[in-house]
Amino acid sequence: MASKVLLVFFLPLVLSLFFSGCAEAQGRLCVGYYSQTCPNAEAIISAEMRKTINSTPSLAGSLLRLHFHDCFVRGCDASVLLNSANGKVAEKDGVPNQSLRGYGVIDTVKAKLEKACPGVVSCADILALVARDVVVLSKGPYWQVPTGRRDGMVSIASETSQLPRPADGISQLIQNFADKGLSAQDLVVLSGAHTIGKSHCSSFSSRINSSDPRIDSNYAATLRMKCKPKHLTTLVQMDPGSFTTFDTGYYMQVSTSRGLFNSDAALLQNPQTRAYVLRQATGSASEFFKDFSDSIVKMGNIGVLTGAAGQIRKKCFAVN
Ligand code: HEM
Repeated sequence: MASKVLLVFFLPLVLSLFFSGCAEAQGRLCVGYYSQTCPNAEAIISAEMRKTINSTPSLAGSLLRLHFHDCFVRGCDASVLLNSANGKVAEKDGVPNQSLRGYGVIDTVKAKLEKACPGVVSCADILALVARDVVVLSKGPYWQVPTGRRDGMVSIASETSQLPRPADGISQLIQNFADKGLSAQDLVVLSGAHTIGKSHCSSFSSRINSSDPRIDSNYAATLRMKCKPKHLTTLVQMDPGSFTTFDTGYYMQVSTSRGLFNSDAALLQNPQTRAYVLRQATGSASEFFKDFSDSIVKMGNIGVLTGAAGQIRKKCFAVN
């Protein structure tokens, strides 16, 4: 009798977990992790993102960048979202993160999820799902996001030195990505995220003011016009003309010496990354879309906390 009851009540759960790819998910992520515990989680996030990007398209890039900056420091554990507290300076206040935007959007999404399913959906998963949704809303590819990440409890500003810098050259970038388990292919593919979004003049001013031979002189002159010396907070489009559309425009820019950062231009300095840039600059977007989906899922696996590690934060900006 007991075994019959067990079968009736638990078989559907086990089967649904199995078919959603969540069987024996201990220690790893799986697609559909919340299908039983918060079935509407992904729909709630997508609906909120549609509203946000419809009203403020320029936030798409900022929200995508949050996931990258989260994963490269302490893994994808939402440590980037924690506020500095009790005299401890958090990642958020580290130099490379001072240009991040979109935290308020994440707080709004989290509040909606807490209302629907309290204490279930992690902030780290929200960042990964939001990144996918904003790419889709920018006319980019859709990919299935493995979930089940838990939130970290530590965030240290000085660890943001692990993030790549805009002035980095190709060997530093390849090494930096390798340190996170990512390849040169992942580097050139994920750099394609610079097809959306904006940058502060301060992130590339040294390049345009020092007549860098690797930047097209007309482009440098245009940028100098936009970035007046005292206007370091001015924002410029990274893929001019299509900065809200996720396309191959970035590779076109880089291939014609119009990459904004040294790190973009540097992709022409290695045979493998150069070949990729030149191919995407002239090809259709389908290869880039497929590659981007693969690489971002890989990035989303960096150092994840699962099982009993970490916690599910109630608010993304503070530990429970
Ligand atoms: C390869 C090394 C990379 C470097 C050195 C780099 C550097 C930067 C810098 C300096 C900015 C401008 C920040 C500002 O001044 O506001 C920026 C913006 C951006 N980055 Fe990267 N990045 C890199 C890779 C990535 C990756 C892997 C992604 C995502 C997968 C990404 C997504 C973005 C997006 C979407 C923006 C626009 C942000 C906005 O509109 O607010 N970047 N990046």
